[in-house]
Amino acid sequence: GALPPQQLPPSRPLIAVAHRGASGYAPENTLAAIDEAYRLGAETVEVDVQLTSDDHLVLMHDTRLDRTTDVAEVFPGRASYDLADFTLAEIQRLDAGSSFSEEFAGEPVPLLGEALDLLHSYDMNLLLEIKKPALYPGIEHQISVELARRPHWLVPNAPDEPFRLVVQSFDWDSTRVSKGLLPSIPHALLGRVPEAEIGQYTWAHMINPNHTTIDADYVGAVHDAGLEIMPYTINDPARMRQVLEMGVDGFITDFPDVGQEAVAEF
Ligand code: G3P
Ligand code: CA
Repeated sequence: GALPPQQLPPSRPLIAVAHRGASGYAPENTLAAIDEAYRLGAETVEVDVQLTSDDHLVLMHDTRLDRTTDVAEVFPGRASYDLADFTLAEIQRLDAGSSFSEEFAGEPVPLLGEALDLLHSYDMNLLLEIKKPALYPGIEHQISVELARRPHWLVPNAPDEPFRLVVQSFDWDSTRVSKGLLPSIPHALLGRVPEAEIGQYTWAHMINPNHTTIDADYVGAVHDAGLEIMPYTINDPARMRQVLEMGVDGFITDFPDVGQEAVAEF
């Protein structure tokens, strides 16, 4: 069915989003990375979510487990290291910290629910990416169930406040399915929607492209359609200033302290 167009709020705070948590300082998509983002004063965290073989939502960027965890040591000779082939109990045996630094040895792969509860305890906001939803039929529904268990996440923010929760995906069909299930929650399209097509996506709240694909005209076109724009992933302070000059509403960075400083000085 038709989804109503979103309104661009009149005054919007600029936001530096901590990418995969403060992943420049702590292992990506772990509770330690959320802790670090909080410690650095970040208000908003981005994480990636996928589904285990027994239908539990866990934070993980790659569809394989072997870049960020010790899965090859814990399960030697397993035919596949795809997350989709592992149960939650198996994934909870993995160390997702040592690949970043020995300081974080033993840091587990968290459940989405654990991340939601930790973020809530810190009064932090969440940019939630549904990663590769085509591999996980029904993941949008699972996310809506997890959020319904924590209804405080579903209370919309005031228009002039930073968003409490945005759901995003590179898969725009999945994003639309999720919007249908979570109509009160703003949604974002990841990637560069061609300018001529932006008008088809006014049910979305944001377009979040790779920063290398945008200029001031593109930012203007997104705003003209009534959407916000928060490019990823910017770690260079000079580039942060450039995209702020283009008029973006925020950006996504591995170094939220550097990002906050760029926003504060702008
Ligand atoms: O939030 C945007 C950004 O996270 C998208 O790229 O590969 O880091 O998930 P990726
Ligand atoms: Ca992501």
